[in-house]
This record gives sequence, C-alpha cells and structure tokens, in this order.
Amino acid sequence: PPSLVIAVDGPAASGKGTVARALAARFGLPHMDTGMLYRAVALSLLRWGGDPDSEFAALRACDAIGSLIDDAELRSETVGGVASRISAYPAVRQALLERQQEFAGQPDGAVLDGRDIGTVIAPGATAKLFVTASPEVRAERRVAELQARGMPVHYPDVLLDIRARDERDSHRSAAPLKQAADALLLDTSMLDREAAVAEAIRLVEARL
Ligand code: C5P
Repeated sequence: PPSLVIAVDGPAASGKGTVARALAARFGLPHMDTGMLYRAVALSLLRWGGDPDSEFAALRACDAIGSLIDDAELRSETVGGVASRISAYPAVRQALLERQQEFAGQPDGAVLDGRDIGTVIAPGATAKLFVTASPEVRAERRVAELQARGMPVHYPDVLLDIRARDERDSHRSAAPLKQAADALLLDTSMLDREAAVAEAIRLVEARL
C-alpha cells in the first residue's frame, strides 16, 4: 500500500496531540510530536544558560537535544514559552527540518503534529488536519492539565499566555502557524476527546 502521511497542525492546547496520537494508533503509524523538538532546544538553552534572544545561541542548543527528548521538564510552561521564542529563528527551524522529514518519509508513513507540518515539513501529506479551538476553551484545558499535574495555575495568566503564544506563532516570518490551503479544519471547541478523535478519523478516511 502507498505510505500514509498525516499532518496535524494547530495552536497550543487545541487537542492536536490527542488527535495525532489517536490517528497513529488507528492507522498503525509512528507518531512524532514536533513541539517536543522545539521544547528540547529551549530546555537545552535554559540548562546551559544561553541567551534566548540570540539566534546563534539557540542554534548551538540544537546540537545537544538528543538526551533531553524524554525529560519531564519539557512540558513546563517556562520551557514552552522559550520554545515559542526560539522557534521563530529560521536557523533553528532549518536545524530541525531534516529529522522531521526523515520521520515523515518512513516506508508506511507517519503522523506528525506541530505548526508547520502541512505547510513546510510534509506539503505532500496524504491528509492534513488543522485542529483549533477558541482561546478560552484552550486555556481551560491547559488549566485542567496543569492542575492534574499538581502545578499552581491562574486562569487569566494561562489565557494571556495562550494569546501571546498564538500571536507569536502566527505572525513570525519563518513558517508561521497557518492552515494549509488543502487542510481540513477541525474545531474542537464544542467536542470532547472522543468526539474530536471520531471526527478526525472520519476526515482522514474521507481522504483515502
Ligand atoms: O506544541 P507545543 O506547545 O509543544 O510547541 C511548543 C512551541 O514550539 C510552540 O509554541 C511553537 O512556537 C513551536 N513549534 C513550532 N513548530 C512546530 C511545533 C512547535 O514552531 N512544528
């Protein structure tokens, strides 16, 4: 059978990770959460004490991400904030490109989720989903997730942070967050986890 490449893009806490993992399980494909690569660069930079305002420092941090890929700290808000900043640097995006394209090029195919999978990493993907939800719904989800992990949270701060990250991710010049022309829109604002997954499977199957 031809390889099946599924691109899942969308903003923070839209449900794209949940959808991507479920699609990978449903179609028996390997899955890559590409945000983890940017988070690993951010964590490497933070640990080493490099300056996040320096593209050169961020590029150097790309060399040291191998050992950080499973680190528990990757999911923290601090790391996410720095990841959002360093991901605007073209040199960082370029340094992470080959790893993602190799993953997408596996013989059976793959599911990748991120911001620019359908537009830059795998423009020829079999199916592209753009998963979104209102900022308020996404902030509520992030609050629940952080609370479940025992972290202190304040809804207004989380909402501000989500809006700031959307703004940065959508307005940077290098590979901004943007729905590909041929991507299918999945708005999860009114959907629970099961309904979002069922809809995603339906949308992908319609492309086969
Ligand atoms: O999805 P996640 O919140 O883990 O991503 C962290 C940051 O990495 C995002 O805010 C975004 O700026 C960046 N990112 C990106 N391109 C991707 C995946 C993530 O720029 N493909």
